Amino acid sequence: MKRVVSVVNLKGGVGKTTTAVNLAACWGEMGKKVLLVDMDPQGSASMSVGIMNEGGELLDALQSKTALPVVSTEVPNLDLVPSGMAMATANQWFTGDNANEILFHCLGLTRGDWDLVVIDCPPSLGFHTMNALMTSQHVIVPVEASPLGLNGLKQMAVAIEAVKPLNPEVKIDAVIPCRAHRRRRIHWEIMDNLKEMFPGKVSPIIRENVALTEAPGKGKPVIMTARVSKGADDYRLVTMWVDEQINGKAEPAAEQFASVGVQSNPATDINYSYQKPSVNDNDLV
Ligand SMILES: Nc1ncnc2c1ncn2[C@@H]1O[C@H](COP(=O)(O)OP(=O)(O)O)[C@@H](O)[C@H]1O
Ligand SMILES: [Mg+2]
Repeated sequence: MKRVVSVVNLKGGVGKTTTAVNLAACWGEMGKKVLLVDMDPQGSASMSVGIMNEGGELLDALQSKTALPVVSTEVPNLDLVPSGMAMATANQWFTGDNANEILFHCLGLTRGDWDLVVIDCPPSLGFHTMNALMTSQHVIVPVEASPLGLNGLKQMAVAIEAVKPLNPEVKIDAVIPCRAHRRRRIHWEIMDNLKEMFPGKVSPIIRENVALTEAPGKGKPVIMTARVSKGADDYRLVTMWVDEQINGKAEPAAEQFASVGVQSNPATDINYSYQKPSVNDNDLV
């Protein structure tokens, strides 16, 4: 079975779609073949790679009427299973005992030489997310540095435990702090909490960055719209970190990106260490 990674959080607006799209694109840039599956009826992941869809084909495929719709994208090495509003009715169509295993069977029947399947999930634990969890070995949880974000994460951990008897392989492999503000005191408090809750599973941070907000409107991942930006840098680093986490191997960054000609740039290179910035107390808001 292909490696399947679901990007999940029951909370909306935390960076799930941004993470799914940009992880998938960075893996593509690293030379891996990736299938991005949009399981959210809002179709945000599809739009983020320039594809508008009604979701009818995916619904048909889940109903075993047709093969899983796979379209190629302009992003190197990235294919997409697009979604849209028709998928909002999916939970009405599938109610039997095996309702949560439908995507698993569809993917199993789909021919393709992808190294990784990345699934973007909606902010709920209904049919769409349950199907993703039942299909996945790896779960990635984007989280925002706020007390409510921490609470949502606890709920996620409980939900994954509930799925384990049905899919023993599934586990949270990475918690990704998204939309991070390193100069806020609350950020460091939440980071400490996260590392206590998920030792060894908290990735480097994704900083709040305008290039990440703008990229979906251009229908491309940030590595194509602003290839030298904090957003692109952060997602490249986090992709390597996640890759290592799920594959248990490390490759030097320079080698991985040599093929796409990404050069080190002292003007934009940043220190990714977890050290707190040395600022005086007035800067901490
Ligand atoms: N690190 C970031 N910096 C700036 N904007 C971000 C960042 N991460 C996400 N966003 C923006 O925040 C909004 C919500 O993100 P999204 O990935 O769609 O969340 P979710 O899928 O969890 O609902 C989107 O407009 C997205 O462009
Ligand atoms: Mg989303």
